[in-house]
Amino acid sequence: MTDLPHYDFVVVSNRLPVDRVIDADGTERWQRSPGGLVTALEPVMRASHGAWVGWAGQPDLDLAPFDSDDATLVPVPLSPLEIEYYYEGFSNDTLWPLYHDVIASPSFHREWWEAYVEVNQRFADASARVAAPGATVWVQDYQLQLVPRMLREQRPDLTIGFFNHIPFPPYGIYAQLPWRKQVIEGLLGADVIGFQRVADAGNFSRAVRRLFGYATRTPEIRVPDGLGGHRSVIAKAFPISIDVESFEQIARRPEVQQRAQQIRDDLGNPSTIMLGVDRLDYTKGIRHRLKAFGELLGDGTLAVGDAVLVQVASPSRERVAAYMQLRDEIELTVGRLNGQYATISHSAVAYLHHGYPREEMVALYLAADVMLVTALRDGMNLVAKEYVACQLDEDGVLVLSEFAGAADELKNALLVNPHDIDGLKEAIVAAVRMPQRERTTRMRALRRRVRDNDVARWSATFLDTLRHANHHSDAR
Ligand code: G6P
Repeated sequence: MTDLPHYDFVVVSNRLPVDRVIDADGTERWQRSPGGLVTALEPVMRASHGAWVGWAGQPDLDLAPFDSDDATLVPVPLSPLEIEYYYEGFSNDTLWPLYHDVIASPSFHREWWEAYVEVNQRFADASARVAAPGATVWVQDYQLQLVPRMLREQRPDLTIGFFNHIPFPPYGIYAQLPWRKQVIEGLLGADVIGFQRVADAGNFSRAVRRLFGYATRTPEIRVPDGLGGHRSVIAKAFPISIDVESFEQIARRPEVQQRAQQIRDDLGNPSTIMLGVDRLDYTKGIRHRLKAFGELLGDGTLAVGDAVLVQVASPSRERVAAYMQLRDEIELTVGRLNGQYATISHSAVAYLHHGYPREEMVALYLAADVMLVTALRDGMNLVAKEYVACQLDEDGVLVLSEFAGAADELKNALLVNPHDIDGLKEAIVAAVRMPQRERTTRMRALRRRVRDNDVARWSATFLDTLRHANHHSDAR
């Protein structure tokens, strides 16, 4: 990796925007991953032909950089042990539960932390190698919180942004992290630190004050530069969104609409199709949703044949114990619900442990009368926005947890506290029985909101703030 070209714009994320697929005949190809970040950054990449630094998703793949669409992809290799310690361990069994209100207990292991430091350094080194003088580098998410500082140490000429896609916890929870100071020092290497919600940016600034005593004046944090001067760091909310236009386009396609009708037919044309779409993750409140739905069947408020819950739970982090346990619990519950309430011709819950292409997801959104987003904690929850974007006929009801970042914007949803099972049941019943007029009024307002802040606006606003941030120290 000596003579790499240099790029003015570099994105750094744990995963590359493509997945490696091996076809039946053994040929290797790269397939664009379905994630939202890829579409979010596509226009920016196209405008600048930047580089994207990330892991290719499999162990020990030491690949040379290669071109894909409008970006050069720069793979960062991870060994099997690093996957276990840095990715499954520190990222997804320490930080993930800690940052999501300790819904599951975080594990703290010093070996995991050491791997996290080492891998973050590798990402920083790879980024420093491909960034042109004075380039902009945008680091993404909790897996790479140390990269901004590591990068600044090597390359003070760079403008560095960081965006945290998940919540930033209140200080009382954050303080549990044995490496709480190092992580904040890592993040403060950035010029702009973006969060999903105003509350996340507030939690971060409070942690900085409590641990370092630095002066903060929202959104600015004054960080001593060690030379008697200060750098100014901006910590601010930039709620992420989706590519509304592309979802609308798919929803308009006749074959996708036909597929939606076929889904309804296959389910036996019940009056209400309820839908849940999540990664199989304990933060998503899938159990709470199943409990509320089961009780509504049990007390006769809803009847099988008349109402069905379609639950897509896409496989995720399957080697982490908390995820294995969750899968067992959910599949046991689904089995019990169907055993008790299903008939030969009708399921209570249609449970799908798969990921699906975007067209199929849109067909499901079109088929669903009620969308259930009951996360116990979620940075944003783009599924809520996707459902809204697809309702071209301004019908359909969104039941949305107040603990998802999306609730800050989507106030016309039926907002719920998923821990309150009675409240959740009431909201589900209200959604099922909601008169057409109210459905339309709410959905119209929701659609306006989602269209106003789409993902192009998100990236443009962040990058604009970054461009105007003064990344030089005020020391003379
Ligand atoms: C969340 C995180 C992302 C992550 C995604 C999928 O959305 O914010 O950083 O990529 O989950 O998780 P995975 O562990 O499969 O990358």
